[in-house]
Amino acid sequence: MTPTDGPVSLLVVDDEESIRNAVRRYLVHQGYEVAVATTGEEALAILRRQKITGILLDVNLPGASGIDLVPRILELEPAAAVLMLTAVNDATSAALCMQRGALDYLLKPIDLAHLGRAIARALDKRHTIIEGQQITRWLKEEVALRAAERRHEQAIQERISVATLEALVNALEAKDPYLRGHSARVADLSASVAAHMGRPDEEIEVVRTAGRLHDIGKIGIREDVLAKQGPLTTEEYEQVKQHVVIGSQILAPLSHLGGIIAFVRSHHERWDGQGYPDQLRGETIPLGARVLGAAEIFDALTTARPYQEKMPADVAVERMRDLAGSVLDPDVYRALEAAVRRRQALVFLDDART
Ligand SMILES: [Fe+2]
Repeated sequence: MTPTDGPVSLLVVDDEESIRNAVRRYLVHQGYEVAVATTGEEALAILRRQKITGILLDVNLPGASGIDLVPRILELEPAAAVLMLTAVNDATSAALCMQRGALDYLLKPIDLAHLGRAIARALDKRHTIIEGQQITRWLKEEVALRAAERRHEQAIQERISVATLEALVNALEAKDPYLRGHSARVADLSASVAAHMGRPDEEIEVVRTAGRLHDIGKIGIREDVLAKQGPLTTEEYEQVKQHVVIGSQILAPLSHLGGIIAFVRSHHERWDGQGYPDQLRGETIPLGARVLGAAEIFDALTTARPYQEKMPADVAVERMRDLAGSVLDPDVYRALEAAVRRRQALVFLDDART
């Protein structure tokens, strides 16, 4: 007992009035606050009403055995120190009570000085148990906090690494007026295609990030080939095709990018297995890659190129219809068509407002 805690509340549960009174008098004299009960039910009612720290419980009460009462008491007051009072011939029951959570037992007739020491010991033990539980709780909280901090730091690092790669892509595209903004547009359209396919938000954002990074491998392609205005030779085309492999190799060390790396590698695969670099076919091509591939074709058709006029969005979508089932996943094509139509409807509404 510490001065700040105030008196410790004990509950004496015994059906013999003489024992109850003697024990109560002694314990009050020792500075404890003492409640008494004659039956198990009465004891439980007191526990529901007030805070009790320690309980002296007769093993044999009328209508209830201590063996059944101990778990019910501890359910109401898990931190209570329970001491059993038992006749010599019933020590087995007392041992059973201890198995169920009682801390000690005392034999009747009770030696009051012995009782005082046993209570002090039990309260000490209870204190140690509570401290142990508190330490375990603090440790768990600390571990959870550290883990959350680590996850937060890791997320920041991951965002920084993606932002750095995006800056590289922007720098690459800035050199070529025909490419400027290509990856950002592919990212936005891919995200809305994924949304039209009913993909979950988290996956949509993964596809968006993949869109921003999908052509990063072009960093590894000779500039004169990338900037060439006329048709490419076979050798040059083979070189350009390498951008998907180079891109996935650049991203490979960033394991947090997960599926994005495969999306980048496979965004030029075709539904019919005639694409590159692995000639994947149908649904073996990751969905994100199928979406990026469709968005990239749409963007190529709708932006001006040295050898091609810019195509209006609806014309481009119509032109791409023929590719569904050969180059493109038909489901992806339908979602792209819906995404582009919705975008046009929004633009129309915006124009009408201004
Ligand atoms: Fe590409």
